[in-house]
Amino acid sequence: MILSGSSEGVSNPLDPLLGARYPHSLQISVFADEGPQMSETIENLFQEGRSFPPPEALSRDANASAEIYQKAAADPQGFWVEEAKQLLWSRPWDQVLDDSKAPFYRWFVGGTLNVTESCLDRHVATNPDRIAFHWEGEAGDSRSLSYQQLLSEVCRCANGLKQMGVAKGDTVAIYMGMVPEIVVAMLACARIGAAHSVIFGGFSADSLRDRIDDCACKAVITQDGSWRRGSVVPLKKNVDDSLVGQQTVKSVLVLKRAGNEVDWQQDRDHWWHDVIPQQDDTCCAEVMDSEDLLFILYTSGSTGKPKGIVHTCGGYLTGVSSTFRNVFDIKQDDLFWCTADCGWITGHSYIVYGPLANNATSLIYEGTPDHPEQDRWWKLIEKYRVSILYTAPTAIRTFMKWGESLPAGCDLTSLRLLGSVGEPINPEAWMWYHEHIGQQRCPIVDTWWQTETGSIMITPLPGVTTTKPGSAATAYPGIDARVVDDEGTEVQRGHGGILVIDSPWPSMLRGIHGDPERYREVYWSRYDGIYFPGDGCKVDEDGYLWLLGRVDDVMLVSGHNISTTEVESALVDHPAVAEAAVVGRTDERTGQAIAAFVVLRSSVKGHDDLIGELRNHVATKIGPIAKPSSIVFTPDLPKTRSGKIMRRLLKDISEQRKLGDVTTLANADIVDAIRDGVSGSSSEDQ
Ligand code: WTA
Repeated sequence: MILSGSSEGVSNPLDPLLGARYPHSLQISVFADEGPQMSETIENLFQEGRSFPPPEALSRDANASAEIYQKAAADPQGFWVEEAKQLLWSRPWDQVLDDSKAPFYRWFVGGTLNVTESCLDRHVATNPDRIAFHWEGEAGDSRSLSYQQLLSEVCRCANGLKQMGVAKGDTVAIYMGMVPEIVVAMLACARIGAAHSVIFGGFSADSLRDRIDDCACKAVITQDGSWRRGSVVPLKKNVDDSLVGQQTVKSVLVLKRAGNEVDWQQDRDHWWHDVIPQQDDTCCAEVMDSEDLLFILYTSGSTGKPKGIVHTCGGYLTGVSSTFRNVFDIKQDDLFWCTADCGWITGHSYIVYGPLANNATSLIYEGTPDHPEQDRWWKLIEKYRVSILYTAPTAIRTFMKWGESLPAGCDLTSLRLLGSVGEPINPEAWMWYHEHIGQQRCPIVDTWWQTETGSIMITPLPGVTTTKPGSAATAYPGIDARVVDDEGTEVQRGHGGILVIDSPWPSMLRGIHGDPERYREVYWSRYDGIYFPGDGCKVDEDGYLWLLGRVDDVMLVSGHNISTTEVESALVDHPAVAEAAVVGRTDERTGQAIAAFVVLRSSVKGHDDLIGELRNHVATKIGPIAKPSSIVFTPDLPKTRSGKIMRRLLKDISEQRKLGDVTTLANADIVDAIRDGVSGSSSEDQ
């Protein structure tokens, strides 16, 4: 639909002014006979031609080979059964999938297990001294825990929880920093059959209270304070504030970490060091039904009340264990580092359950990437000889901004595989990751999934897939993903639309805690009975999937549905740009106009000529229809606490509205800076 060339006479019938406004650039051509394409759910604009075959040595020895796709396609349930059999079950299941009450699916029905036995006991039986975690504190202190030590700690903590009155079926809130005890606490809950609800340590007392109330937690596990960039985050104080007048929480277990002063409520609060060390280091694992609750994890989305996403034992562990083994190709001598926080699903699935189920050795780091210096991560990789790094595009783009000399100053030769998760990774950020971190040697697995999906859904397999920068490749074996239009018809290759998952999968959410109607409505009603994740996606000529961001963020410009991701990728493609966010600002003439917010690389200064250059760059990369009508340079972008760009706020700023809910914002001060930038900027339309 977008024509290259500069024939002056061609114009967009929907926007007669377009040609006049962009007289010297590429012209857009939308003829009447192209009508049907105008209703494309999301257009396919950005073209990326680079590709990278898997390294031969890795393919030869990979955990997953191409046959896995054929096997799973021939018999998806049979595939999941094989994966489930890799775990330790105390009773086999009677039925693989019960779909009689869809969308309330049940997996491995009748089977029983305790996930901690698959994660700990069976490995301790064969090799108790193998390291489960190397941990490094922000200040440089460090500890290593063997599988045996971890199991003993988990049992002590489990016995401590029991002593405090926590029992099977209760829910425990965990509000901690990234210390080894957060993993111990999660597994201790699982050991005794209590559900954990981990709440990210960056959340406020109010957010904590909402989440504690929503699932009526019986106990809270926290710290006096956690370290962040050299200062103390007062976790215990936040817990105290959140519990004022709260009825269900009977005990608070407090780990001493930062040594800050804390208030104490004698009948409720217990120091970890007073209660846990003296407990017995064995604790019989509670027998759990495959479908018993394992954890609740709140996902806020961009609006509305947080949803308590429910995951259960057997299916969840099957999904995370299988994907961890195959996507990260884990081997005995690997050192795996997932940089997420345990407060997010990525931490649950790929710091705790997936790695431990596979007897892996992982690194956990407590602090921020820029403490004490901006090369802290690269120093950690050098020190621990990390071989697999799993991180997020927001981090990669930050490192792009800081410059390549920082990783270049460290020895990264131990790395053999890289992963990305959390947002679409722009092709240029992918290339930067490939060149400056992977040193052109390491495959990159761009993994698409959600809190709701429990485990990775769309991803390359590192020994099989030829990767393309910016594409998450194809569905994981046993997963049934398609791209459809608004009516639910599958789009043809080369087109964009909406991602759906056709069949249930073991690690899927089992519901939203306490709200079955909302579960149906949010995920299963857009296309009757088919899972709707809420993401746009395009499928290229080879069948590769390119995730395009949240459907809610799609912009409608002169009748074209344009994804924010594609315009952002075109901006990041310019060598001056590290990060970009675009939103559709209401515009009388075009419906919406594209407003861009750009973070430049550290070495670059923003100036007016650069604005014109960036606009033209977008036009050449994807067409004039996608040219931002305004560009504002900003030192940072508003992000959620898990690092996702909050486009909704940028939209409010662009339309000069009062800001919507900012409680999930991690860097509140940036909003004022951006607002000043917007009021001082001139848009092309003015
Ligand atoms: C986005 C994180 C593109 C997507 C595991 C999804 C991605 C939401 C990718 C879930 C990716 C995650 N490419 N987009 N590789 N990974 N997303 O629940 O919009 O924090 O719906 O789970 O992040 O975020 P959540």
